Amino acid sequence: MKTVFSGVQPSGTPTIGNYLGAIKHFVDLQKDYRSFFCIVNQHAITVPQNKQELQHNTRSLAALYIASGLDPEKATIFIQSEVPAHAQLGWMLQCIAYIGELERMTQFKDKAEGRSGVPGALLTYPPLMAADILLYGTDIVPVGEDQKQHLELTRTLAERFNQQYNDIFTVPETKIAGSGARIMSLQNPEKKMSKSDSNQKAFISMLDGEKTIMKKMKSAVTDSGREIRYDPESKPGVSNLLTIYAISKNISIKEAEQKLSSESYGSLKEETGAAVADILVPLQERHAELMNSSELDDILDKGAETARQASSKMLAKAERAMGLERKKR
Ligand code: TYM
Repeated sequence: MKTVFSGVQPSGTPTIGNYLGAIKHFVDLQKDYRSFFCIVNQHAITVPQNKQELQHNTRSLAALYIASGLDPEKATIFIQSEVPAHAQLGWMLQCIAYIGELERMTQFKDKAEGRSGVPGALLTYPPLMAADILLYGTDIVPVGEDQKQHLELTRTLAERFNQQYNDIFTVPETKIAGSGARIMSLQNPEKKMSKSDSNQKAFISMLDGEKTIMKKMKSAVTDSGREIRYDPESKPGVSNLLTIYAISKNISIKEAEQKLSSESYGSLKEETGAAVADILVPLQERHAELMNSSELDDILDKGAETARQASSKMLAKAERAMGLERKKR
């Protein structure tokens, strides 16, 4: 059975971008793959976090994974910092990564821009991400489009390690979801929707209530003209709403276009808001239940144990390959 690994940062409440571009696909993949889905809290601390919020967001993201349909019987759901092998292999991969290739990462450039003290870990983030993936012999990594460059570097690091030390790592494939791979901001459809956007109206969080969802959708920026047509170049706002509608309804963009082409912008927004609320509202009920139960902690304890066992084998192989083992074999 092939292996899937992916993760989301608990750096805020996930948005419908995270859901439609990533989490929804995790749920589909768990049936057919040996599955690991991680809450990558060590990635979140590459920029300052409020500690109470981080702790809360970490559990909340785990609850959202499960409420979205990840089944702990099928998938290993765990918190990155509870599995030390990630940081350990992350360090080893930093040793083979070049500063030049790390500095080329657009996410590093974006996050470092305008900061007075740039945390070193913002630069060395991709080797930790590579470690997350390579520890489990991962074959595929479902992510949104913004992670493509990190995944390419992961492949490069795996190949470099295999060549320089020993051929132990599976070189993973990137699996980018078709149309949901890049959900755009509701306020600026030229920009990716992001959970850390300072403008709350720019995104719908997975925990926004129905009223908020409808309100944010209503204030979504559309385009000039009145025609509802999928054309990201000249109609980025409308195309973004059509994309959100289509994936939420599990239909193609063509079908969404046909269904809504005779509507006004106002009803496009309303229909899209309703489609999103139909998914999020039931999921939020399950989320609330999990947050108030010990079930969530039991699942995460078990997930950490399984992940520790699975990752320790690869870590030992990598240490042996690099000469970090004391005893000769
Ligand atoms: P993060 O937390 O920024 O995002 C989690 C996942 O959501 C996708 N995504 C989007 N998809 C569509 N439209 C959007 N607007 C949108 N915004 C985010 C992301 O592409 C991602 O798949 N570095 C990663 C976390 C990570 C990871 C890993 C992922 C750490 N280790 C190992 C995969 C495998 C990140 O910052 O994702």
